[in-house]
Amino acid sequence: MAIPEDIINEIKYRNDIETTISQYVNLKRRGKNLVGLCPFHSEKTPSFTVYPESASFYCFGCGAGGDVFSFTSLMENLDYIESIKLLAEKSGVALPQDGYDDSMQRLKNTVYDINRETARFFHNYLMSPDGKWALDYLTGRGLTVSTIKHFGLGAAPDSWDALINHLKSKGFTISDMLTANVIGKSQKGTYYDRFRKRVMFPIINIRGNVVAFSGRAMPGEDKAGGKYVNTADTPVYKKSANLFGINFAKNHCSEQIILVEGNMDVISLHQAGFPNTVAPLGTAFTSEQANLLARYTKEIVLTLDSDAAGQKAVKRASQMLENTGLSVMVVLIPDGKDPDEFIKKNGPERFRALLKGAVSDIEYKLLSAAGDIDINTDDGRLKYLAEAAAVIANEADIMTRDIYIGRLCDKYGVSRTALTAKVDELRRRNKRAEQKKEISDIIRPPLTKDDINPERRRSPKGTAAEETLLAVLLQHPDFYTEAKEKLPPDKMITSLNRRIYEIIIETLDSGRQLDISVFAQRLMPAEIGFLVSLQNGDKAGKNAKTVLKDCIEVILEEDIILNANNKAESSVDDWAKDLKNIIERKSKGN
Ligand code: UTP
Ligand code: MN
Repeated sequence: MAIPEDIINEIKYRNDIETTISQYVNLKRRGKNLVGLCPFHSEKTPSFTVYPESASFYCFGCGAGGDVFSFTSLMENLDYIESIKLLAEKSGVALPQDGYDDSMQRLKNTVYDINRETARFFHNYLMSPDGKWALDYLTGRGLTVSTIKHFGLGAAPDSWDALINHLKSKGFTISDMLTANVIGKSQKGTYYDRFRKRVMFPIINIRGNVVAFSGRAMPGEDKAGGKYVNTADTPVYKKSANLFGINFAKNHCSEQIILVEGNMDVISLHQAGFPNTVAPLGTAFTSEQANLLARYTKEIVLTLDSDAAGQKAVKRASQMLENTGLSVMVVLIPDGKDPDEFIKKNGPERFRALLKGAVSDIEYKLLSAAGDIDINTDDGRLKYLAEAAAVIANEADIMTRDIYIGRLCDKYGVSRTALTAKVDELRRRNKRAEQKKEISDIIRPPLTKDDINPERRRSPKGTAAEETLLAVLLQHPDFYTEAKEKLPPDKMITSLNRRIYEIIIETLDSGRQLDISVFAQRLMPAEIGFLVSLQNGDKAGKNAKTVLKDCIEVILEEDIILNANNKAESSVDDWAKDLKNIIERKSKGN
């Protein structure tokens, strides 16, 4: 793994972290840092922080963190090397052609190749005489051959090994097929095609690569494996960060993107002249998908079922979409139909009319707030107004609030002052609740450090000392010779902190700069986040040199105690000797 350091630095210099992150996140200055809503999890108050001084970022809510490359890799779903390449390309820095280890990239390319070959295999089978059952099914559902080709639809034969044999004949290995998740391994150790006798939908990412498959069972044959079988996450595919149809929709989304529930809805709307349609892939809508959409359009139309589950989904999705700054409209398809069924029955023009009649998210919520309430009674009206006030109170824009307050007053004959007062009171209450949550999050961060360092339990005190020590070294690299002398890495208690300590020593020993990039290539994203929080926190204090000494002391003590505990069978004498050691060390230190 060695893209030369000076080249990495140059790429970093040309893609400064503030500018790069600003392309995705709306950042506000806070002191010498910047804060914004985290693009990696859903939140209402900003806990995502950018530190221009150390060219790093950290989210106090979800623990994501790192440098400009880690950010890009999380955002664009790339690995670290790929994001270096992407930013190099963007800023016109030439990378050396070879000489660095790109085994991950090679594996990804192989998976892409397997997926492309698999899609071709399924498509050819669909179009062959043997695939007639599947073609009949698709055309029976109203798809034209041209649509089928456009989406590259296919079919998996009713066989346990047709795909395996085909891919073998093309030179792919079993291990790579497993990685691509197109085959599975049985308990007996044999391999089998994962998709059998199913209509196949290839899932294509924004760059036009086949990244996964979704296979639908024939009607009445969904007992084994369920109605849909989907590719699990692979090196090239993360279900929660992709959307079916995005490869087409991204070119037709200047006005809006239509969000539907299923693959068939996407295809059938596309055929009817709405290519700006996407669907999540068999998961509940995620904030990552919301962020992806926010990069391509300004407005989302949610077209979800009018059943209870559909309405709950609308609430969840619209909150996430709004958090990214998208405006959200809602279309209710009459009679509980899905868009595919609706359009088949009523035609594209009626669907267009539905889209025109889409209501804003707040109107939709006001409508559905009525629920079972009987608004013909005074009691019911009051109940409804209380619900409606809560909906309006959640709206950030004061003008929008004012408009809806006005409408409700006209409609229900209440005074504007009264309703406004009610809404304001609810807003104050929400605000207090949020502040409380914020404070409690600071006291007890939602992501406990133990998620990152599973060995903390062994010695909470020692682990805390290790962390402070690392914080000191990150902020004062010049202290490292002293640390190295007094504390050999193998004395570190937890393996994560030992790894970090080793990287620090190794880097400084070789005369290089201690930069987050050094770690980003060797640690997991959450671990880097933890490191960035150490680097930018105030654990080191004002008197870093003394703090460092104390930390080393504590770590060495804990090491002795742990070792003594481990030697449970050791004699009382040994135990006493160890204790004496500790005491002597202590008195020497003072
Ligand atoms: P639906 O059951 O509504 O299917 O699931 P559909 O898309 O309308 O399909 P048709 O019209 O019956 O052929 C909606 C979406 O949920 C996911 C799929 O992505 C599907 O498109 N899903 C559904 C699964 O991933 N697994 C399942 O078992 C069912
Ligand atoms: Mn359907």
